[in-house]
Amino acid sequence: MKLQKLSLLTLIHISSLLLLVLADSTQPPFSCDTSDPRTKSYPFCKTTLPINQRVQDLISRLTLDEKISQLVNSAPPIPRLGIPGYEWWSEALHGVAFLASVSQGIRFNGTIQSATSFPQVILTAASFDAHLWFRIVYDYIQAVGIEARGIYNAGQARGMTFWAPNINIYRDPRWGRGQETPGEDPLVTGKYAVSFVRGIQGDSFEGGMLGEHLQVSACCKHFTAYDLDNWKGVNRFVFNAKVSLQDLADTYQPPFQSCIQQGKASGIMCAYNRVNGVPNCADYNLLSKTARGQWGFNGYITSDCDAVSIMHEKQGYAKIPEDAVADVLKAGMDVNCGNYLKNYTKSAFKKRKLPISEIDRALHNLFSVRMRLGLFNGNPTKQPFGNIGSDQVCSQEHQNLALEAARNGIVLLKNTDSLLPLSKTKTTSLAVIGPNANSAKTLVGNYAGPPCKSITPLQALQSYAKDTRYHPGCSAVNCSSALTDQAVKIAKGADHVVLVMGLDQTQEREDHDRVDLVLPAKQQNLISSIARAAKNPVILVLLSGGPVDITFAKYDQHIGSILWAGYPGEAGGLALAEIIFGDHNPGGRLPVTWYPQSFIKVPMTDMRMRPEPSSGYPGRTYRFYQGPKVFEFGYGLSYSKYSYEFLPVTQNKVYLNHQSCNKMVENSNPVRYMPVSEIAKELCDKRKFPVKVGVQNHGEMAGTHPVLLFVRQAKVGNGRPMKQLVGFHSVNLNAGERVEVEFELSPCEHLSRANEDGLMVIEEGPHFLSIGDKESEITVFI
Ligand SMILES: *[C@@H]1O[C@H](CO)[C@@H](O)[C@H](O)[C@H]1NC(C)=O
Ligand SMILES: *[C@@H]1O[C@H](CO)[C@@H](O)[C@H](O)[C@H]1NC(C)=O
Ligand SMILES: *[C@@H]1O[C@H](CO)[C@@H](O)[C@H](O)[C@H]1NC(C)=O
Repeated sequence: MKLQKLSLLTLIHISSLLLLVLADSTQPPFSCDTSDPRTKSYPFCKTTLPINQRVQDLISRLTLDEKISQLVNSAPPIPRLGIPGYEWWSEALHGVAFLASVSQGIRFNGTIQSATSFPQVILTAASFDAHLWFRIVYDYIQAVGIEARGIYNAGQARGMTFWAPNINIYRDPRWGRGQETPGEDPLVTGKYAVSFVRGIQGDSFEGGMLGEHLQVSACCKHFTAYDLDNWKGVNRFVFNAKVSLQDLADTYQPPFQSCIQQGKASGIMCAYNRVNGVPNCADYNLLSKTARGQWGFNGYITSDCDAVSIMHEKQGYAKIPEDAVADVLKAGMDVNCGNYLKNYTKSAFKKRKLPISEIDRALHNLFSVRMRLGLFNGNPTKQPFGNIGSDQVCSQEHQNLALEAARNGIVLLKNTDSLLPLSKTKTTSLAVIGPNANSAKTLVGNYAGPPCKSITPLQALQSYAKDTRYHPGCSAVNCSSALTDQAVKIAKGADHVVLVMGLDQTQEREDHDRVDLVLPAKQQNLISSIARAAKNPVILVLLSGGPVDITFAKYDQHIGSILWAGYPGEAGGLALAEIIFGDHNPGGRLPVTWYPQSFIKVPMTDMRMRPEPSSGYPGRTYRFYQGPKVFEFGYGLSYSKYSYEFLPVTQNKVYLNHQSCNKMVENSNPVRYMPVSEIAKELCDKRKFPVKVGVQNHGEMAGTHPVLLFVRQAKVGNGRPMKQLVGFHSVNLNAGERVEVEFELSPCEHLSRANEDGLMVIEEGPHFLSIGDKESEITVFI
């Protein structure tokens, strides 16, 4: 998100808002002050009335100019009605965030100067949850929601609508914002979205407890098929994503459907890019028919920042600005991040391109969310969430959660001859080398706030090994020149060497995709030189959001161990040191495929998930990609070895309704299948079946181990995934301990696939469940 122009009008609005709240700057802004005599007469202030009715009353009191003023992210106050300004734009991707130089709701310049910084999302996803279905995400995001309310109650927020989570599929390893997402799998991303939204909005973990009141508001973004920022001159503003119905149905859309239907998110952001020619924010089918109509969405829809102006200015989709304004409002968008709607809505209305009913509809959605946040109920500090104090921000409990999330995500990629963990007693000297070893900034990734307290890997390792020597190796992560001789000298003098390398925001970020998958410039050289010179095989730690082709390190015998730590957040350095010295047993697993450098011959602009062997297109992600890999999706070692066995179950046949089955012919063989939509929900539910798995820890350390359950069809090709994740469950096992894990599978949900028309269908025949190297067969009859 990037707001290109901050207009003078915005500044005027900000200053008039200040006048309104300056009386007591530690008070949060709110409407319907009970000490204001006008309040009693306004039905929109009567908390006993339904929100619908209150919003209608409020809208009926607004002039056309006032209405239009409210359609942008920095909504100005309406002093004659006692309504303060509202800032729709705030961020909380992995902690309450602060973006310098843009208009946003949160300020860290009062009593509260920092907030807990959890790991960047891609690393949290690697934990495949600490308990069931991302309990860790729920717990920590709930903490983020609490901190946000604490900041608001302290008078440092002008909005409670947070533009997170980012749930676009991490389709291409070069994507600069892949770090913000839970990875490449639609199920993982959907489950992450649900846990995130429930946690931050104040619902229960299981859902269903969210009433009208929102702790804070979440926003599923970027809707939809947005996963290219700026690659070789193609940028997100002009990019037209060509997406098949099949890929939309089983890859791009499912996370959004989960976010809305199960998560009950109160916000959506439509993306910059076009999909098959139509800008997302102008797509009635997407915003109104699919999200609101089919999925029951009832919150507000914001544009990405300046996504309306680009329709005219960059995409040439709208002939004049008024067309863009009319298009988005008629499609179902409610608020514009930017100023375009402030400037051109009135003229669009005057040119009869837009009925007033569309403006009122948008306002209805907007004020409903503000009311659900409790901002029209009088002083919010006297209401639900009103007693959350500033002491809840950066509490010890929240900081512990940040540490736990980092520990559980870090992935062990190599550990030859059990080099790790290092002995705490026998390791007398340590060399810590690399441009990421002592950088607090790298740890937090993007969309971060000022962290409560950062511990760099170097600082944390120093607390384990007194004799620790440090050298950055290169003056920056880009490593355009390496200080190899000095670094080698330090490495030679130590028992063990820890290299902390990888990427940072200079290499992958918003508006900047990578063009290569290898480490920047001289990094590889530096690593290899140090590894050759060191007394013992070295330990390589990679901080990066996206995958890196480290084939050289995988096969270098002088590199004994490799850890990937994403961008692990404020406590990430400590989590790394704990793992290196055996105070924690790593269990994270990769949430994305690690492709080799040769993958860069694939144009990033090609949205197809499925391979096309005839033209050499290899497909994308573990579900479809057929080329060589550096590491697979789900790969991750531990200090323990785990084994699996499928336990016998009574049921290995699934019978569905015989009568209405369809047939298609594939390679001259008939294939019997049924669209899932034609199978009654009761039958689907009745045919759910349990899958039981025994999991044993054969190691000498207790460990947290995520169990990943995949399914594949006996038939391959014709757009079927090679395999598909259908369940994941993390278990805690003591040394030698064995537990049984039960998954419940639904044939309609887990044994189906998308066909070329974008319909989910279920095919007759054998399907194979797999966990690790074990398989179990289940046959579908229709
Ligand atoms: C914090 O920053 C905002 C926006 O710049 C400003 O209006 C406000 O006065 C500041 N508060 C303090 C306590 O400095
Ligand atoms: C809105 O109008 C103002 C004043 O005419 C102009 O300066 C500004 O650039 C316009 N903003 C947009 C986004 O068109
Ligand atoms: C490398 O990074 C440094 C620090 O960020 C920067 O000043 C320099 O211009 C970069 N060099 C290249 C070649 O990109």
